[in-house]
Amino acid sequence: MHKIFSKNLFIGKKVVYLPKCHSTNSIATQLAEIEHVNEGAVVIADEQLAGRGQRGNSWESEPGKNIMMSVVLKPTFLKPSQQFFLNIIVSIAVKKTLSEFGLENVKVKWPNDIYAGNKKITGILIESTLKGSMIETSVVGVGLNVNQLVFTSEKATSMALEVGNDLDKELVLEKLSRNIESIYLQLKGGASEKLKADYLKSMIGWGERRSYREKEGTFEGEILGVSELGKLKVERGGNVREYDLKEIEFLWK
Ligand code: BTN
Repeated sequence: MHKIFSKNLFIGKKVVYLPKCHSTNSIATQLAEIEHVNEGAVVIADEQLAGRGQRGNSWESEPGKNIMMSVVLKPTFLKPSQQFFLNIIVSIAVKKTLSEFGLENVKVKWPNDIYAGNKKITGILIESTLKGSMIETSVVGVGLNVNQLVFTSEKATSMALEVGNDLDKELVLEKLSRNIESIYLQLKGGASEKLKADYLKSMIGWGERRSYREKEGTFEGEILGVSELGKLKVERGGNVREYDLKEIEFLWK
């Protein structure tokens, strides 16, 4: 397992591999809080019994087929209000990894669902712990569908389904971890505006008129971007409104 990460500078210097666990994000959070592991520690599982998704959802994955990984980061260079940059860099890293395996029709559905065509291929769950006005730890959880061929949801897909053959999961993991590391280091080095521009370009609905639903009803709008706090900025009837995750629904996915 360590060989997968041998080309990295810090991601994967410590690896906890578990054939089965509740949630790699929960284990990684415990490692950070109780054992104070260094930045870059990784938890990987073949099976999660209580995999967690966004908005309190669960994350289902066929045992042994996919990547379920959590990385401990310590982005002390970001203010808590800038946390959304982590969503940006992980989304870009996943998209880049998928393109390295020949998947080109990949887009990000705000805030950080990764779609191949109109099907979800990767979910990302980032959980941060704050200390005063600092981010102490962020656990970046990635569920990337690699070799699963059958899903209960018809809106899910995998790399194997998209490219037509099984993939080497360890190679995918090696490239994904390198991409997360290198794009994270670009962010740390001050490339935030360029990375945000890359993220916007890859967003579903950016610069296009599409249908959405909010509490006042359905409407046609255009995604203009994301605020510093990561809210979705949408033009609606000449006004720009900002939405949180639970406040807006995309009607065309
Ligand atoms: C979502 O799309 O709702 C996010 C899903 C995130 C799933 C990953 S799998 C590895 C890590 N551990 C978890 O419990 N969740 C994340």
